[in-house]
Amino acid sequence: MALGEFLAELDKVAADAAATFESVLDSDSLEAARVEFLGAKQGRLKAVQKQMGQVDKADRPAAGKRLNAVKGQVEAAFEQARDRLGAGKSNSPKAGAEQFDPTLPGRSIRQGHLHPITQTIETLKEIMAGLGFSIAEGPEIEDEWHNFEALNIPLVHPARDPLDNFYLSVAGVGKGALLLRSQTSTVQIRIMEKMPPPVRIITLGRVYRPDTADATHYPMFHQMEGLLVDSHVTMADLKSVLRMFATSYLGADVHIRFRPSFFPFTEPSVEVDYHWNDQWIEFGGAGMVDPNVLQAVGYDPEQVTGFAFGLGIERLCMRRHNITDIREFYRNDVRFLHQF
Ligand code: DAH
Repeated sequence: MALGEFLAELDKVAADAAATFESVLDSDSLEAARVEFLGAKQGRLKAVQKQMGQVDKADRPAAGKRLNAVKGQVEAAFEQARDRLGAGKSNSPKAGAEQFDPTLPGRSIRQGHLHPITQTIETLKEIMAGLGFSIAEGPEIEDEWHNFEALNIPLVHPARDPLDNFYLSVAGVGKGALLLRSQTSTVQIRIMEKMPPPVRIITLGRVYRPDTADATHYPMFHQMEGLLVDSHVTMADLKSVLRMFATSYLGADVHIRFRPSFFPFTEPSVEVDYHWNDQWIEFGGAGMVDPNVLQAVGYDPEQVTGFAFGLGIERLCMRRHNITDIREFYRNDVRFLHQF
């Protein structure tokens, strides 16, 4: 037998063994491969070894040297495969894959959740629904009638200054211009225009003002507006509702205070403060609906009276969760948001 023929035979066994050990998937196929290539009696290496006697005598040392080298390679391939399968215990489908232990508890996937402001809105809706208020909605792009005029804010009023509002076209200010609503009081008008008294609604939504962002200001924020119109509604009703709301949201130990104020759409008007954890904090404005507003929507101020209030939702949320900077809500940093 020529040396070349013997070596070709050896090369074939070496290549087959490498491919086979690389692809074994479990301990059974590993053992089968071991027997096929390294088996002491029937193994393919053994078979080639047996042919050594037929190789020309002069070539035998070279043949033997090569045989030993290939044997070393095949043994190494076997050991590698055995290590990969975790000493023959694993039935993992992939080379190097982690072992699967069905008895371990599963890995939980971190769930997203609602933004703290959205959660607050949901809570406020629940509380106010419990007090008999239904939810109303209105557009964020408003006309001057709903944002100002009908709310008794005349054209000359400083609140209509283009620098204090997001008008969508400055050229059109005062002539049917559109703007991003600066208050949710707009929805009072929209609702009263649509339905006759009695009215008992709240609306929660975004409002926009060109304020520079700091710890307590942001050019977009949320308000909860309430409106109750009926016969014989008084300021005492307003205070009761706001107190019941405050104790539901902040806790039984909260106190409420009205300070005289002015809003064009209420008369009398008040600022609403809540006392909680040793601090008075202003949460918004309120008052008895101005007769001019009732008239603007076609209600008869001789027949009905009403109260209205507008509270800052961010403030309520910040107070309850001890958040000190309104900008945190809108940085979209999940490390902040996932705490709520
Ligand atoms: N709209 C007022 C604001 O944004 C808040 C407000 C005050 C709303 C008095 C009312 C109210 O309904 O009666 O500052």
